[in-house]
Amino acid sequence: MVKFIRFFSSDMGIDLGTANTCVYVSGKGVVLMEPSIVTMNLETKEIVAVGNEAKRMLGKTPSNIVAMKPMKDGVIADFEACGAMLRYFISRAKTPKHRFVLPPRIVIAVPSGITSVERRAVRDTALKAGARQVHLVEEPMAAAIGVGLPVEEPCGSFILDIGGGTTEMAVVSLGGIVLTKSLRVAGNEMDQAIIDYIKKKYNLLIGERTAEEIKINIGSAFPLEEELTMEVNGRSLVEGLPKMVKITSEEIREALKETLSQIINAIRNILEETPPELASDLIERGVTIAGGGALLKGIDKLISQETKLPVFPAEDPLTAVVRGTGKMLEESKYLKEFPRE
Ligand SMILES: Nc1ncnc2c1ncn2[C@@H]1O[C@H](COP(=O)(O)OP(=O)(O)OP(=O)(O)O)[C@@H](O)[C@H]1O
Ligand SMILES: [Mg+2]
Repeated sequence: MVKFIRFFSSDMGIDLGTANTCVYVSGKGVVLMEPSIVTMNLETKEIVAVGNEAKRMLGKTPSNIVAMKPMKDGVIADFEACGAMLRYFISRAKTPKHRFVLPPRIVIAVPSGITSVERRAVRDTALKAGARQVHLVEEPMAAAIGVGLPVEEPCGSFILDIGGGTTEMAVVSLGGIVLTKSLRVAGNEMDQAIIDYIKKKYNLLIGERTAEEIKINIGSAFPLEEELTMEVNGRSLVEGLPKMVKITSEEIREALKETLSQIINAIRNILEETPPELASDLIERGVTIAGGGALLKGIDKLISQETKLPVFPAEDPLTAVVRGTGKMLEESKYLKEFPRE
């Protein structure tokens, strides 16, 4: 019977991220990863575009169309836009075969700092969008399951997820979160730090997308074997005209220093609070990093130097959380621990 139901239902796991939303369909894997952006017509209140299409419109919309990020700093900033986004991604992920059969069970990863009102809003939205059952899981737990940490065993694992809006970290053991911390400092803050640095040093104004490109191309947390340079275009604050400057990876490291030290401090704090038995597990098992921030060059070396623990960047860190929700759907032991809402 269970198999029969599975055949007709396409269960889904969703990571509602600040920067990207990912959807996993059971039996298929990760089927989509698109920016968490919605564009809306202010006059008619209609949704114009979602995801990739909405991102392409960013900064280029006429005045009656606004681009919105429904998730901000790890929480839901706009319920209506969030609902529209969920409905769109759920309908995109459904295969035509499944569309008219049994509604899916959906596991949604939510930030660990989410309030009970927000939990209910996410659940109701998913039910309205056509879910048969909704399970919510905290992001660090989903990330830990996604990267394959032995979360149910009586031994401590440390998971660090550096996303766009939030950095979440947790010590997990025996299927539960022992300690957790969520910082509203992550990838977006790094982009902003690059914008501020270039503005101050070169009197040059650059956009968010350029700042992110700089971070991805030449950004680093630890000295590189070969330092890099990049030509950057912006608008001069002196002449008001377009201008190009050449910047180095050393400069960007300087720009990112403050943001990274906030993340390191939070890791240190949580390590200081970890019960001794679990702390000794961490000496061996170290810190596993997920989220887009795990891709920052040298982040593993910096964290390892500052915590004296081994650090392991996850494979495919951008999909760690959504793969965790997928495993929860496919291995029934997990769903029992995260009862439906
Ligand atoms: N190669 C890279 N180097 C540094 N940062 C990167 C790289 N690739 C992506 N990022 C950053 O990772 C962030 C997105 O990561 P991710 O998709 O894990 O966030 P999210 O899950 O949407 O956000 P959150 O978990 O905060 O809700 C963005 O800030 C992006 O700029
Ligand atoms: Mg995330």
